[in-house]
Amino acid sequence: MPGTHIEDLSQHVGGDVELHGWLYNKRSSGKIRFLLLRDGTGVVQCVMMKGNISEELFASFDQLTQESSFSVKGKVRKDERAPGGFEIELSALKIHQIAKEYPITPKEHGVEFLADRRHLWLRSARQHAIMRVRHTIIKAIRDFFDGRGFTLVDSPILTPNAVEGTTTLFETEYFDLGKAYLTQSGQLYAEAGAMAFGKVYCFGPTFRAEKSKTRRHLSEFWMVEPEVAFNDLNDNIELAEEFLEYIVQTVLKNRAEELKNLERNTTFLENVKKPLARISYDEAVEILKKKGVAFEWGNDFGGTDETVISEQFDRPVIVHRYPAKIKAFYMKRDPLNPELALAVDVLAPEGYGEIIGGSQREDDLDVLLQRIAEHKLPQSAFEWYLDLRRFGSVPHSGFGLGIERTVGWICGLDHVRETIPFPRMIYRLAP
Ligand code: 4AD
Ligand code: MG
Repeated sequence: MPGTHIEDLSQHVGGDVELHGWLYNKRSSGKIRFLLLRDGTGVVQCVMMKGNISEELFASFDQLTQESSFSVKGKVRKDERAPGGFEIELSALKIHQIAKEYPITPKEHGVEFLADRRHLWLRSARQHAIMRVRHTIIKAIRDFFDGRGFTLVDSPILTPNAVEGTTTLFETEYFDLGKAYLTQSGQLYAEAGAMAFGKVYCFGPTFRAEKSKTRRHLSEFWMVEPEVAFNDLNDNIELAEEFLEYIVQTVLKNRAEELKNLERNTTFLENVKKPLARISYDEAVEILKKKGVAFEWGNDFGGTDETVISEQFDRPVIVHRYPAKIKAFYMKRDPLNPELALAVDVLAPEGYGEIIGGSQREDDLDVLLQRIAEHKLPQSAFEWYLDLRRFGSVPHSGFGLGIERTVGWICGLDHVRETIPFPRMIYRLAP
C-alpha cells in the first residue's frame, strides 16, 4: 500500500506513482476535471481528461465528495501553475469511502463550531501548518539538549505534592494512598535528575487547574524543563538565550513555507539571536510607570503588563530578580537583596507574554525548610526533595518553556487553543 507521498513528488517527475489520500477539493471546466488530493504531506491536483481515460473513471469525479478517501495512479508532471508545482495525469482511481456531507467547508466557521470538530479541523491547511511548526519546535528542543550532553530524565505525572502553589492542582484519588495530583511541573524531579546526571531535561504534559479564561492559558500543556547542576542564575539566562535562538532559527530555516501560509511576519523572529534584551523586575516596573500603567512594586505582572513591557523590545526580553513573595518556595533569594528571588522570566515580543519561567534554586537545607513552612506546604511530602539538600547539595538552576505559548508566538496566533492537537481549557474537555 504505502505508495508515494506528495512531498516527495519532485523525485518522480515523468514517472508513474500511486498516491493515497482524501479529497480536498475538486473543480471542472469542460472536458477537463481536477481532483485535489491531500495526503497529509501536501495537496496535489490530479487531472482527468475526457477521452484519455474510460467513461467510468471520468464519472467517478461526480461521486467523490469532500474528504472522501481514495487512491490514484498516474504520471507526475511538473507544472509551475499547479498548487505545489506538480500534477498527476490520472490513469486509475480507487475509492475507499464516500464521505458523508463534511461539516467544515471552505466558507467561514465560528471558532466554537470548529473547536467542537477539532478531530476534523486538524485536516485543514492552517491547522496543518501550525502542527508542523509545533513538530519542528519539539524536534529542535530535543536536538538542542541532546547535542549538548543533556540526559532526558522524565518526571512523573501523578505526584504526591504541589510544585507551583496549591491553587491550581488537579486532584485524584490514588488507591489506598490518599490523594494524588497531576503534576504542574516536572522541575522538582528534574532537580533530582541534575544531582544524578549533571545536565538533564524533562519534557512532558503538565497540568494547571487554571480558572482563568485567557488566550494564554490551557489546563493541560507541554513543558520542557532543563535543570543544570552548578549553573547560577546568569548561566541559566545564557542557556535560555541560546535555546530560544536555536528553536526560532531552526523553525525559520525549516518551516518557511508554513510560516508563509500562516501569513506570519518574521521580522521579529529573525531578531531572536543572543544576547536578548535583559532587564530587572525593577526596570520592568519603571517601564510600566513610564507608560502610565497603574502598577505597584511587589505585584506580579498580569497579561496586559507583560504586553506593555514586551512591546518595548524587538526581541524576547529577559526579566530577572522578582519580588520573592510572588514566586515559588524553591527559588533562591538574591544575596544582595533578600526581598528578591533569583528568578527569570522570558517575555516574547509582540505581546505574546511569558514563555519561559525559571530560577536558581534554594540549595540550603535550613532555608528551604523555612520556605516550605512559610508557604504552608506539608513537609512530609517534600522529604525526598529535601534529601537533595542533605546529600551533596550544590548551586543549580533551570527553567521551563511552555510549548503552546511558544508555538502561538512563532506562528503569530491570537489564542493557544490552536497550538495543541486537542486543547484542554476551563470550558473544553472534548473532543
Ligand atoms: O512559570 P512556570 O509556572 O514555571 C514552572 O513551572 C517552573 N517549575 C519551571 C522550571 O523552572 N522548571 O511555567 C513555565 C512556563 C510558562 O512560562 C509558560 O510558557 C508555560 O509554562 N505555562 C503555561 N502554558 C499554557 N497554559 C498555562 N496554564 C501555563 N502555565 C505555564
Ligand atoms: Mg511563570
